[in-house]
Amino acid sequence: MDKLLKRTHYCGTLRKENIGDTVCVNGWVAKNRRLGGLIFADIRDRSGIVQVVFDENTSEEVFAKAGTLRGEYCVGISGVVRERESKNPDLLTGYIEIVADELSVYSASETPPIYIKDDDNVSGDLRLKYRYLDLRKPVMQNTLAFRSKMYNVIRNFYFKNGFIEVETPVLAKPTPEGARDYLVPSRVNPGKFYALPQSPQQFKQLLMIGGTDRYVQIAKCYRDEDLRADRQPEFTQIDLEMSFVDQEDIIAIQEAFLKELFKEMRGIDIQTPLPRLTWDEAMDRYGSDKPDLRFGFELTDIKDTVKDCAFQVFTDAIAAGGKVMGIDITGGSEKFSRKDIDKMVESVKVFGAKGLVWIRKEADEIKSSVNKFFSQEELAAICDKFGAKTGDLILICSGPKNVVWAALGFLRRDIAGKLGLLDPNEFKLCWITDFPMFEWSEEEQRYTAMHHPFTSPKKEHIGYLKTGELDKVYADAYDIVINGYEAGGGSIRIHDSELQKTIFEVLKLSEEEIRVRFGFFIDAFKYGAPPHGGLAFGLDRLCMLLLGTDDIRQVIAFPKNQNAQCVMSEAPTIVSDDQLKDLSIAIDLQDK
Ligand code: AMO
Repeated sequence: MDKLLKRTHYCGTLRKENIGDTVCVNGWVAKNRRLGGLIFADIRDRSGIVQVVFDENTSEEVFAKAGTLRGEYCVGISGVVRERESKNPDLLTGYIEIVADELSVYSASETPPIYIKDDDNVSGDLRLKYRYLDLRKPVMQNTLAFRSKMYNVIRNFYFKNGFIEVETPVLAKPTPEGARDYLVPSRVNPGKFYALPQSPQQFKQLLMIGGTDRYVQIAKCYRDEDLRADRQPEFTQIDLEMSFVDQEDIIAIQEAFLKELFKEMRGIDIQTPLPRLTWDEAMDRYGSDKPDLRFGFELTDIKDTVKDCAFQVFTDAIAAGGKVMGIDITGGSEKFSRKDIDKMVESVKVFGAKGLVWIRKEADEIKSSVNKFFSQEELAAICDKFGAKTGDLILICSGPKNVVWAALGFLRRDIAGKLGLLDPNEFKLCWITDFPMFEWSEEEQRYTAMHHPFTSPKKEHIGYLKTGELDKVYADAYDIVINGYEAGGGSIRIHDSELQKTIFEVLKLSEEEIRVRFGFFIDAFKYGAPPHGGLAFGLDRLCMLLLGTDDIRQVIAFPKNQNAQCVMSEAPTIVSDDQLKDLSIAIDLQDK
């Protein structure tokens, strides 16, 4: 047994107080250099870095071995801590060094393909290919430890509030959360597939019917959807469900949780109760159901001001039942050039916007892209509607409401980013409540559930289900939004099987489909379902927000890339013909 394996300290924990101690550390060579008769090596473990020196007191044998050290060699070192001659105030261990008397090289290392430094600029895929090396970076180790502490805070909070953690199956039936499922073929049931859960939604509701009363799970979820910076195909939820509660009970407990989470993880005091916006209000004021409230730039509706104007783009939009809305960028006139605005116009086209009208309020004149159609008085009236001041830039979009909201919602945040208004250390949380129950899907040419089909419509709107006025049906659904991210969402569930059936019918699911997909679920509601509701937080997103990063991959040990691949293990891969035969599966790639 190598006695150097008997570590006495983690590298990053050594301090002035350890001077004179004989210590033993294990780790990797972060840096090494020779200065005449001295060899220095920075040794790194998950806690940080400590400087080790081999000098004239080191035995010849150990000194010779130290001369062979290279970056990322894995070593054990023992020696005595002493005060350093040239101190490094940037390093917590910068006051001391270890004078080595023993060295064991556990493993040599080839030259690593990535720099193991926090501030490298290596491309994402290369970092992911060598994730095990990337993880050696202090920032990554800190992130893993931070996330690990989160699990503890989460469990601690919910356990002390009477929640029980239950694991639900991963080999499951499709869940209707709106994304595509990852399917797993069953060998013993040829031609049949499990679906990896998009969330434990049905199971947690069945747990309520089963009498669990308060459930929590740190649950892995799987969704085959287009990836973005805040989305991964497999991610983690803090999944919750409660019986005999209403929306207020659920919100209250989640606010208490968020308060504790922010305090424990960041030492930040969140003021509760959190502000709330209804979905309608959020869309009309911010163009988004996940508004970033760290800055203003609220949307202003100018329909009444321009309804009789000579600019047909606006009047046509109004005639078609659409919107004319805009944002006022305080002091934006000087900050954004014509070229910048051209880029903004391009950027909103992906949302279906045909263009943007700009107005610059200058001291002696109001300039705009629609000068031909508006008099100075008319432009002044528009500026007044926005409450614009000299030096402001107004951007206006017109068209169908969804297009206008999406375009301006995007612009708001984009511009705030350009103006440096997105401080990652400022946290603005809010609830969005009263979501529409349904949304029209152009693709499917039918209404779909905006949250999921088990969400309870507002009691007072149930009548509209019968009259078919589905746009008027709002749901007891709520999201928690933090700095423009949807950090969680939930709802009160339907606990009446008749109402559930009506919802399925409205969603145009056939009797057969209902029976095949949800038969077991509907059956359960025949046996005394309690009123219940819940919510799921995106754990990765919460972690990302708390750490102030905008890349979800930073907070996941082994994430997938933009193409849902693990570039390290090269999953997904092709499998052998024998395996496919076992599963009765034939591959047809003709159309791919
Ligand atoms: P929802 O679909 O809103 O609700 O998901 C809850 C939260 O999970 C996070 N999230 C994701 N995080 C990373 N990558 C993804 N692909 C991803 N998709 C979602 C978000 C989101 O707010 N069963 C319901 C919850 C309920 O009703 O109780 C559900 O899954 O932060």
